[in-house]
Amino acid sequence: MESNMELQVEHLCKSYRKKEALQDVSFTLRRGIYGLLGENGAGKSTLMRMMATVDFPTKGNIRYGGKDIFDMDEGYRSLIGYMPQDYSVYPGFTAKDFLEYMGVLKGIPETKLKDRIMEVLEFVNLSEVADKKVKTFSGGMKRRIGIAQAIINEPKILILDEPTAGLDPKERIRFSNIISDMGKDKIVLLSTHIVSDIEAIATELVVVKKGKVLETGNVEELVRKVRGQVWEAVVSQKGYRKLRKERSVIHLKQKGSEVQVRFVGEEYPEAEGSRAEPTLEDYYVFAGGIMEENSGWKERNRK
Ligand SMILES: Nc1ncnc2c1ncn2[C@@H]1O[C@H](COP(=O)(O)OP(=O)(O)OP(=O)(O)O)[C@@H](O)[C@H]1O
Ligand SMILES: [Mg+2]
Repeated sequence: MESNMELQVEHLCKSYRKKEALQDVSFTLRRGIYGLLGENGAGKSTLMRMMATVDFPTKGNIRYGGKDIFDMDEGYRSLIGYMPQDYSVYPGFTAKDFLEYMGVLKGIPETKLKDRIMEVLEFVNLSEVADKKVKTFSGGMKRRIGIAQAIINEPKILILDEPTAGLDPKERIRFSNIISDMGKDKIVLLSTHIVSDIEAIATELVVVKKGKVLETGNVEELVRKVRGQVWEAVVSQKGYRKLRKERSVIHLKQKGSEVQVRFVGEEYPEAEGSRAEPTLEDYYVFAGGIMEENSGWKERNRK
């Protein structure tokens, strides 16, 4: 099939008894790398499960090249690679055996499979432990084998639910390099709540909040939206407490008895500051009113 086909999500709704996990979600994906960004419980995994056809919508459609993906059935599943958030591998298998098993399931011809296994193990930096049992792997290594099985069939559509969770900084960089190459001829959708991961990997963004799509667009264009509205200032502790109530404060550092802050929105007369160059995090905070807790800033500065 051609690689310029669109994957369209149309008016998708999903309810779990009383809970409306997704409400009228619509967007279109084309070739490229999309970050699905949203706080815990926003509906990212629910959406991805349906895009991978492992769960069904309550209402709405998902189409690939104009065809309903649930009607395409096996034809669609052979085109996708999916790694669920709670990915667990068969513990008794070695890395190689596990990938062989997944490769056979996905219908990769035996003549190709051995080479492909070595290739994906190399991709995710697990060649050296190819013959080790998966149960002896660390959390990050298990994630990487999860990524390996998702790409083994060279999918046209790659859906990865929190692929970078548990990866160390070195592996994060490695992962973003692998994925950057893939975006040239695939639709790649990856979820995260870490803004810096999106900046490093994705060029397009789908922002979800409370089961709805807040915005979609090119990362740079979205960031440009908050240009001129990002400020940096040094304020007193008291000033800081006041500022927090009135602006989205993103970023702070103690400076003796004062606090260095970064905030988004209108200029604030009591915090005399200077304009700063906006980042994706500034946009995200501005768009969603999401505070420090979810902005990724804490994760980056935890040490
Ligand atoms: N099987 C289920 N039964 C009932 N409620 C569910 C089920 N799966 C998800 N939900 C609810 O749907 C909402 C969306 O959940 P979902 O897992 O899609 O969020 P998420 O964006 O992936 O969050 P996280 O960042 O924590 O992974 C949440 O309120 C969740 O409690
Ligand atoms: Mg999730």
